[in-house]
Amino acid sequence: MNPRQFQQGPIRPPSEADSLLIRTTQGCPWNRCSFCTLFEGMNFSIRPVEDIQRDIWAAKAFYKDRVFTQCFLQDGDSFAMDTGDLLKVLHTLKQAFPELTQISSYGRAQTMSKKSPEEMKAICDAGLNMLYCGMESGAIEVLKKMKKGITPKTILRSAEYAKLAGMKMMTFVIMGLGGKELSEQHVSETAALLNQINPEEIRVLTLAVKPGTELDEMVQQGKFTPLSEVEMVAEQQALIRQLRGINSHYGNYHSINLLTELNGQLPNDQERFLATTERFLTMPPNTQQNFILGRRIHYYGKLDDMSNQLYVDTVERELAKLAHRSPEQLEHVFYQLRQRMI
Ligand SMILES: C[S@@+](CC[C@H](N)C(=O)[O-])C[C@H]1O[C@@H](n2cnc3c(N)ncnc32)[C@H](O)[C@@H]1O
Ligand code: SF4
Repeated sequence: MNPRQFQQGPIRPPSEADSLLIRTTQGCPWNRCSFCTLFEGMNFSIRPVEDIQRDIWAAKAFYKDRVFTQCFLQDGDSFAMDTGDLLKVLHTLKQAFPELTQISSYGRAQTMSKKSPEEMKAICDAGLNMLYCGMESGAIEVLKKMKKGITPKTILRSAEYAKLAGMKMMTFVIMGLGGKELSEQHVSETAALLNQINPEEIRVLTLAVKPGTELDEMVQQGKFTPLSEVEMVAEQQALIRQLRGINSHYGNYHSINLLTELNGQLPNDQERFLATTERFLTMPPNTQQNFILGRRIHYYGKLDDMSNQLYVDTVERELAKLAHRSPEQLEHVFYQLRQRMI
């Protein structure tokens, strides 16, 4: 194979593992969210259209006869591009890879809401038919505290434009993002906004407080009290319980989530999700600790994996090495393990 002669960005959603990756922007145009380090240290730039088009043809030459049905546009926000330029890129993509049925990108609500409904429609018609949007929370207080730079109103407006244009919308929400201080608002207002939007997909993430972030500073200063692993599952249970009248797909795909079995379709799977969270929440504390550590050190994928006694015993031995720690210190070990996962 020829050496790869086109750019690749640092990240993509886990579900785009087999997709063609084309880089339209570098970094994130905002880069100020208190919790996020994903594009840390990178200056944002929009790549020249000619460079992106050259990359598309270089990718075509590199992959030869490989057929792609999905493409993900990297990095943090392709909607930051001028609409005319984005349309040119999409046109070239379809020329080079005519089998593509889905083209997706991250899109900040703030950037999308600056496009007119007509522009969104033209973008969707040209092939960009799915977007990954970091909603994170429906609570204004949480969004402000996290410096997300968007409001529930902007999220709703961008979702309406996307829907009108015919785009599928995948929204990220982060469990634990309100800390103990704003947990109730975080859950109830996130559920209320999701109920209003009814996105095609809700994708759940679990908060990792990354060292050196503003959020980390807030934790040190006592302004943000992180939820424990068990509390974040309880928060997710409360969120699921408050989702009403929507038919979104609901997923816990990222390995940072404890209960990866919470994947399915609302409303059909809602009762199953509640039963699964309840099963975890009613386990004795030492069994919960065994499961959490086992998930974090990759012995378990789901709760049923605890039926393998060999795994349980192995994790128990690892847990015993931490036995001298208090429950708070053990929770801190989980907190640190999560930091490495995102
Ligand atoms: C690469 S970001 C791109 C999202 C896009 N820039 C936006 O804001 O709409 C993808 C998602 O990762 C999640 N994420 C980032 N940092 C995280 C952290 N420390 N803990 C949990 N989730 C995090 C957020 O949900 C974010 O929306
Ligand atoms: S969450 Fe999205 S908008 Fe916020 S800094 Fe990270 S990539 Fe940028």
